[in-house]
Amino acid sequence: MRAPLVDGHGRRINDLRVSVTDRCNFRCQYCMPAEGLTWLDRDDVLRFEEIERLVRLLAEMGIDSVRLTGGEPLVRRDFPALAGMLAAIPQLTDLSVTTNGFLLERDAAALVAAGVQRFNVSIDSLQRDRFFEMTRRDALPRVLAGLHALASQPGVGKVKINAVALRGYTEDEVLPFARFAREHPFEVRFIEFMPLDADQAWTPGSVLSGEEIRAIVGREFPLEEEEREPSATARTYRFVDGTPGRLGFIDPVSHPFCSDCNRIRLTADGKLRTCLFSLGETDLRTPLRAGATDDELEAVLREAVWRKELKHRVNEKGFQQPARSMSAIGG
Ligand code: 5AD
Ligand code: SF4
Repeated sequence: MRAPLVDGHGRRINDLRVSVTDRCNFRCQYCMPAEGLTWLDRDDVLRFEEIERLVRLLAEMGIDSVRLTGGEPLVRRDFPALAGMLAAIPQLTDLSVTTNGFLLERDAAALVAAGVQRFNVSIDSLQRDRFFEMTRRDALPRVLAGLHALASQPGVGKVKINAVALRGYTEDEVLPFARFAREHPFEVRFIEFMPLDADQAWTPGSVLSGEEIRAIVGREFPLEEEEREPSATARTYRFVDGTPGRLGFIDPVSHPFCSDCNRIRLTADGKLRTCLFSLGETDLRTPLRAGATDDELEAVLREAVWRKELKHRVNEKGFQQPARSMSAIGG
């Protein structure tokens, strides 16, 4: 065992997001341009063994929760095998995947068998034409089939739905999602649109805040807030009328939760990012491939994490959007 990872602001870091590919089979408006992006060269992407080595080392330093993301993680060849390699790391108590669901009918069984416990499936609209408009793929029926395939796997853990909340779009989706959450065992979570879109079209006015969404829901289905767990990004609400189901709100723009942030990110090309909005990153691939020992890598990791940003500056004058879009960082 190694000493726990801490940053220079006294935060314990125990959560790692790993982007396994920058590629995606969707082109969501709030993330990628219609024509896609220039993908990383295959040689620049960490191999499974390299990812496993870094995650093992970080697990010795107190990382116990790992979420696999992309791009779209399921487009990476043999992705369930990677999930299985990571699930075997003894210190990890929580292994989860964020996916757009397009390939879930194919992979749900393999991922659950590999040891993935929790899943977030991104769905921005429950109406086929509006889903198509946002993702630029006419794929809602297939994604919903994937969602249900996942939910029917024996032993699957919690499945949540993520919807990015955009002004002028999401208002009409709110009540259908609230009804969906009352009728199905999936928590629906609204995520405020963040300035991580490749097109850099984000403006403060393009965010539909969690508060506004709660007001829309509350007119039809009054909500009450549940207790927030430490380092939880979402505030969750239940329905006052006692109907089972839950809505979650991730409000990083209107209510930043940086003060107890416990996470770091590894990009597909082996860079450590200590904040979604970091302007700098730490190259791990070069020392890894140059034969660095675990102790040497530990020193690089510790130093980078120590300098983790205090908070994001999205709401401040002079905010600078990072060059990487969400797809190249990993949710
Ligand atoms: N703002 C907020 N959420 C985003 N996502 C992608 N881009 C953005 C953005 N600019 C979400 C995806 C997915 C998760 C990985 O992040 O919808 O649910
Ligand atoms: Fe793909 Fe996710 Fe970006 Fe949509 S948000 S284009 S599904 S990486």
